[in-house]
Amino acid sequence: DASDIEKGTYPHFMLKEIDEQPFVMRRIIKEYQTEDNKLKLDADVRQAMKACDRIYIIAAGTSYHAGLVGKEFIEKLANIPVEVHIASEFSYNMPLLSEKPLFIFISQSGETADSRAVLVRIKELGHSALTITNVPGSTLSREADYTLNLYAGPEIAVASTKAYTAQIAVLAILAVDTAQAKELELDFDPMQELAIVANAMEVLTDQKEAIEELVRENLGTTRNAFFIGRSTDYHVCQEGSLKLKEISYIQAEGFAGGELKHGTIALIEEGTPVIAIATQENVNLSIRGNVQEVAARGANTMVFSMKGLEQDTDAFVIPHVHELLTPLASVVPMQLLAYYAALHRDCDVDKPRNLAKSVTVE
Ligand code: G6P
Repeated sequence: DASDIEKGTYPHFMLKEIDEQPFVMRRIIKEYQTEDNKLKLDADVRQAMKACDRIYIIAAGTSYHAGLVGKEFIEKLANIPVEVHIASEFSYNMPLLSEKPLFIFISQSGETADSRAVLVRIKELGHSALTITNVPGSTLSREADYTLNLYAGPEIAVASTKAYTAQIAVLAILAVDTAQAKELELDFDPMQELAIVANAMEVLTDQKEAIEELVRENLGTTRNAFFIGRSTDYHVCQEGSLKLKEISYIQAEGFAGGELKHGTIALIEEGTPVIAIATQENVNLSIRGNVQEVAARGANTMVFSMKGLEQDTDAFVIPHVHELLTPLASVVPMQLLAYYAALHRDCDVDKPRNLAKSVTVE
């Protein structure tokens, strides 16, 4: 649809695409649901998921980060072991494959050459592949045995936003569908929870001014910034730091809270911005301990917590969503942080230097 690839009243595609996320969630709910509210996935995808004994997720960049979250869904809900691999690294140290492996390629564009090289290789070995992509008919989609569509609409900004959240939503649906196929007990209605996420995303995208203010106060002239989190939040830290570095050129890294003491804390100086994500009850105390450790060494800390876990000094409170789906909410303020940091530095938000939307060379 031509209107999808125009900015309309938006100054940048990235901002438009961040704002589209609630609609993408609702579209995914619609596309993956039957009229009587059952999950709607192809029977052959279901069969392939049910039959495999291990899943190998292959992806690059932001899609790799979505894969890290997807691993949690598939292991926790569908009880299948999952490995997540960076496409370009896979062939150097190819893991020992299980007896009945299933490969899942996650790719917004469906054209990433590193991922395709792995697909070609594993097809030669006779294994099956499922591609999760935003572009039906793309190379990775055509060459895989099965495809799941993201329904995110065209993503134009180089920095991926709505594709990441769409990938996570589709992976959650896939995990639940597999759990149902395996007749596992589940206390999780993905469509109901995704609808709550869509509403939370709307609340979040309405808070642009608050995020812009945080950027102005804390990321103005900084050279570097760190993101810390544990468990699921750690994956969002990796994605948040990628967003920030790719468009604002601030040197940014995401660290696991528990690893700080093993080296990273040496980087903390007076005023170093440290963004902490705290959406998981079981690690809330430990991540708060890490925040205190870096604050004691002079860091300028900003805690993004989920409603119910918040403390008075937190920089930003994220509306409550199901504990498994928190990345879908917590990533939105991270995307906005990156956006405003880039904007305030006069960077080319939609077309950052040296980067391409889709990397079709190995
Ligand atoms: C490029 C883009 C990233 C993207 C990555 C993987 O590096 O700049 O935004 O995450 O490729 O792309 P894919 O289309 O395979 O998801």
